[in-house]
Amino acid sequence: MPKPVRHYGAEEKRNLCKVIDGGNFAHHRGGFIDQFERDFEKALGARHAIAGSTAMVLMHAIPGAIGAGAGDEIICDPVVQFHGIACLHGNVVPVWADVRPDNFLMDPASAEKKITRRTKAIWVTHLWGFPAEVDKLRRIADKHGLYLIEDCAHAMFLDYKGKYVGNWGHIGTFSFNMGKHLGTGEGGMAITNDDTLDRELRKRIIFGESPPELASNYRMTEFAAAVGVVQLRKVPRYIAKYREGKKYMDEAVERCEWLQKRLPPKGGGVSPYMYSVVFRGEGRGYALGAMRNALKACRRNGHRFGVGFTQRPAYKYEFFRVPNAYGHKGCPYGCHLYKGKLDFSDGACPVAEDVIPRLINTSNMCSPSDMREKARALRDAVKMVESGAAPADAYTPLETQILDIVAALQPVSPAVVRDRLARKRIHKPLAEVLEIMEQLRSTFPRKLSHAGPEHFAYHDLAR
Ligand SMILES: Cc1ncc(COP(=O)(O)O)c(C=O)c1O
Repeated sequence: MPKPVRHYGAEEKRNLCKVIDGGNFAHHRGGFIDQFERDFEKALGARHAIAGSTAMVLMHAIPGAIGAGAGDEIICDPVVQFHGIACLHGNVVPVWADVRPDNFLMDPASAEKKITRRTKAIWVTHLWGFPAEVDKLRRIADKHGLYLIEDCAHAMFLDYKGKYVGNWGHIGTFSFNMGKHLGTGEGGMAITNDDTLDRELRKRIIFGESPPELASNYRMTEFAAAVGVVQLRKVPRYIAKYREGKKYMDEAVERCEWLQKRLPPKGGGVSPYMYSVVFRGEGRGYALGAMRNALKACRRNGHRFGVGFTQRPAYKYEFFRVPNAYGHKGCPYGCHLYKGKLDFSDGACPVAEDVIPRLINTSNMCSPSDMREKARALRDAVKMVESGAAPADAYTPLETQILDIVAALQPVSPAVVRDRLARKRIHKPLAEVLEIMEQLRSTFPRKLSHAGPEHFAYHDLAR
């Protein structure tokens, strides 16, 4: 079994007992949420920190806080979808800028080209622990009178040219879900060095009885903060371990000329999150499907590699093309206030379209010994592909059955899929069904994705 690096111990338990004994589990003056915000400001070097129940809800509040709404556009990068989703929730149109081929982070030149009269902000993701070129993006934002927003969900204590990311833009957001550098169950933090934005954001996430303008209650609990204050001090140690583990992976791919390494921009550090390389084997006669199957065959100790990530940039997904919220009225694209033209055509972001389906990813947030095993598996898979011994790429009959069931019932849980298989006299343990469904997140063109807690959705990306 993989060994967790993260450690929750006596101090977290003591704090949680203090919350229970105190009897007030919600935000109150002098409680853990206040402490977490102050500690976070100090640790990240920011003037203000604002705690929320998740990063996503803090992100929902951002368009309103910067004065963006119907008819406006925000420029996003298309590898992950979170900021684009936050835009749609705020009735703002996400416009997609391309990424750089060497690190899959927003390309400042592409972002600048996408600016129109309607643009209110550039919203950049520090994808998988590498910093985007936020100095250039900030210069572009300032030149055009725009906000720069940073999604730092994968980027705790990530240095770029002497300053932690999250501080380069007007607002940065961090996630504390259990897949992140700092895990409190659920939770998020926004940072800003701007007093007005601090006020604007804060009033949108906490309103009490009657707000001065549209707001919500997106508050953190004292339980999350009680754990967060302790974890915040531990995260730099975790990151040091992840950096050690990253070295093994770097060594494993160093000599392989057909796996393209990911490079941080000049002046940027790395807070390892996901380890990724790009498959470039076709020129040598190697197929991506062969690599996918070789990785499956060479797995050790349950460590998983994903191939192709989401397979397509965000704007190729149905809900971005045909937004179905707000009673299926087509908001925000069909809004009478929106005067822009959208480009969802092939080639809209050529680098992202080329790179995403070729991505080979695995979590870097593992112990150095686990990363050593992953590195060995990756080396073995490379050898298997080069020797022509990788199994052929096709859906097995069981995978096809599962894909069909999810297509018919989505969103659906693995337990329901197992029961449906049993009705067809295919009896499989839940763990095996779940494992196959996880693997089917990396296939093409028919694939699955996570769709809420313990549920999966179906996508046919050939359609
Ligand atoms: C890049 C990115 N942004 C935002 C979020 C949302 O974070 P949360 O789960 O705290 O809402 C995530 C979560 O996985 C993420 O990976």
